[in-house]
Amino acid sequence: MAETTLVLIKPGGVERNLIGEVTRRVEARGLRVTGLKLIRAERGTVEEHYAEHRERPFFKDVCDYLTSGPIVCMAVSGTNAVKAIRAMMGATNPVEAAPGTVRGDLALTIDDNLTHSSSDPEAAERELKLWFPEGTVG
Ligand code: PPS
Repeated sequence: MAETTLVLIKPGGVERNLIGEVTRRVEARGLRVTGLKLIRAERGTVEEHYAEHRERPFFKDVCDYLTSGPIVCMAVSGTNAVKAIRAMMGATNPVEAAPGTVRGDLALTIDDNLTHSSSDPEAAERELKLWFPEGTVG
């Protein structure tokens, strides 16, 4: 099924010059980049993005981190894009991520797990509206 999902490359990924590496993997898989921008995220946008985790102990840390430097926002479209991208990024905690995944190859700790990707189609729709209010070309 044709879908569009959201990928964020977090400040650590941008700082480590991994924009190209992550994007290369997405495109090599056969998915299309249909939205792309490098921004400094507003705190309010990040807090809304992680709103379901507001009561969790890491909420402030993850919001601090996402606003600590530039991030890349990417809309990715293609067949089963949501699930394909989640699998490609690997487990949320990099120490549990399989080799061959972005986190399994390039990250070590959960507080710097390089990317975010939408967990399901409903989350993708909500997150794409939040990060791309201007729309995408998909
Ligand atoms: S998930 O993917 O929603 O099932 O993962 P979850 O474990 O519920 O975590 C939700 C997001 O919070 C981030 N997280 C943390 N950030 C910093 N420090 C700690 N300890 C921590 N634990 C969880 C986690 O990376 C998820 O964000 P994203 O952006 O999806 O990776």
